[in-house]
Amino acid sequence: MKGIIFILLEKVVIEAHGEGVWDALLEKSGASGTYTSLGSYPDEELLGLVAAASEATGRPQGEILTWFGRKAMPLLRERYPDFFTRHQQTIPFILTLNEIIHPEVRKLYPGAEAPDFGFRRSGPNELELEYRSKKKMCALAEGLIHGAADVFGEKAVIEQPRCMHRGDESCLMVCRFESAAS
Ligand code: HEM
Repeated sequence: MKGIIFILLEKVVIEAHGEGVWDALLEKSGASGTYTSLGSYPDEELLGLVAAASEATGRPQGEILTWFGRKAMPLLRERYPDFFTRHQQTIPFILTLNEIIHPEVRKLYPGAEAPDFGFRRSGPNELELEYRSKKKMCALAEGLIHGAADVFGEKAVIEQPRCMHRGDESCLMVCRFESAAS
């Protein structure tokens, strides 16, 4: 996983809980804590930090990853406004992931393993995402989708009828978007 992801995790943990909590997670998991955005670090190091946070809070690891993804998206918007400004709603933004956002990420961060999604428009306000990755980070994807909805003033309701963690070949995320005001 690229260092940018660790840097974002450090930022959201410190913003929400302070430096001491981040230091405790580093110590507990044995993670190095020294990351450069272009560097590559083992996925296990990220998952170790997530496991330490899960142990400290009593919340499942998936919930921690989802929380992280949701908080990380506004920070991604700050860093990469161009991916966002051309859209008014979450669905058209998400539909640019395979053709624009993640290909650009692979150029900016050589060695990045950003996933491709399968998309199906299942209704005017509904989008199905099929996710298949050896990283099995559907919980992160879910958080990023919630975070994107926050950015566009919407609310995402996500169901996952298929999940690699339950033995399925891929994860299916059925996402319905509503105006956050409604
Ligand atoms: C709703 C929108 C998005 C979703 C659902 C999404 C999903 C994901 C997931 C699940 C991963 C983990 C890797 C894997 O599973 O194989 C990932 C990696 C990544 N994504 Fe996205 N992403 C979104 C938007 C963005 C945006 C806007 C950016 C930044 C401009 C971004 C940058 C990255 C980066 C840097 C990685 C790390 C790749 C690596 O370390 O190898 N993503 N994305």
